[in-house]
Amino acid sequence: MKICVTGGAGFIGSHLADKFIELGHQVVIIDNLSSGMLENINKEAKFIEIDINSDKIDSIFREEKFDIICHQAAQMNVRFSVDDPRNDAMNNIVGSLNLYEAAKNHKVKKVIFASSGGTIYGEQYVFPADESQPTNPCSPYGIAKLANEKYLYYYSQSYGIATTMLRYGNVYGPRQNPKGEAGVVAIFIGKMLSGEQPVINGDGLITRDYVFIDDVVSANVKSLDDKVEGIFNVGTGIETNVNYIFNKLKELTGASCEEFHGPAKIGEQRRSVISPQKLYEICGWKPSVDFDEGLRLTVEYYKAAKAMQ
Ligand SMILES: NC(=O)c1ccc[n+]([C@@H]2O[C@H](COP(=O)([O-])OP(=O)(O)OC[C@H]3O[C@@H](n4cnc5c(N)ncnc54)[C@H](O)[C@@H]3O)[C@@H](O)[C@H]2O)c1
Repeated sequence: MKICVTGGAGFIGSHLADKFIELGHQVVIIDNLSSGMLENINKEAKFIEIDINSDKIDSIFREEKFDIICHQAAQMNVRFSVDDPRNDAMNNIVGSLNLYEAAKNHKVKKVIFASSGGTIYGEQYVFPADESQPTNPCSPYGIAKLANEKYLYYYSQSYGIATTMLRYGNVYGPRQNPKGEAGVVAIFIGKMLSGEQPVINGDGLITRDYVFIDDVVSANVKSLDDKVEGIFNVGTGIETNVNYIFNKLKELTGASCEEFHGPAKIGEQRRSVISPQKLYEICGWKPSVDFDEGLRLTVEYYKAAKAMQ
């Protein structure tokens, strides 16, 4: 199949492009390199450096005749979305619509969308949350993800485009940007390997559902199948707090720093954990990398990358 991976120079999108190519698919990457990196781009993919908001998107879709759009491109920082909701919406809502209109115009069969299980439910009442739980996102970023899901439902109902919306937990693993503003695992590893002091925001007891990149990739691969249509959580059902991550990474990196707590981030959700049961029932997907092993693999990657510098 011919698959367009938007955001294919980024953390998750680049792993997806690699896997799709390995499986024999033809891959075209669309990315504006705002946070993605050229070195992440698979050499066998065709790369088009462009913003998803560009007027040229429609003609690209006309020429390329994609079967599937795997839409990962986004402004992915929750705090940036709070600081500048309009910019977030331009990228994450209007940019997406530009793609969906082109998908409609040029007969794309399926859109797979990177949604967010960590933000879309808002403060949860049930732990872990399944897909039937209320969606009350507390950030412009989460609202944009929910808007995309609603628009995709509209495109599927009105134009027959198949849609799969994957609500990822907190994804971690190799290639996540350690200098970014989001992704506590990568940030802590980056600091620990450089002898810097990581800062734990608040008491470090907020929890998230951490899912390893390989498991997110396999959920997307399963989503190529016709029967995997609709909304699915992609998480582990397990809550982990930040203090645990700090101490585990300290052990794995051999860092000598001690826990240091800064002020809590205002408005930060306290607990987030999602049930992966629905995706398991439809296609047998379940997370295969437990958190300690995923952290070990991630630390190994960054140690090797540092040794190459
Ligand atoms: N990392 C996580 O924990 C997580 C959790 C839930 C959902 N997601 C979603 O998964 C997707 C991928 O996230 P990631 O962690 O790989 O982030 P990332 O920042 O590494 O990748 C995003 C990519 O999109 C590109 N991009 C951003 N805006 C663009 C635009 N307007 N036009 C073209 N390209 C653009 C960036 O250059 C980058 O390469 C995003 O949609 C994100 O919201 C991520």
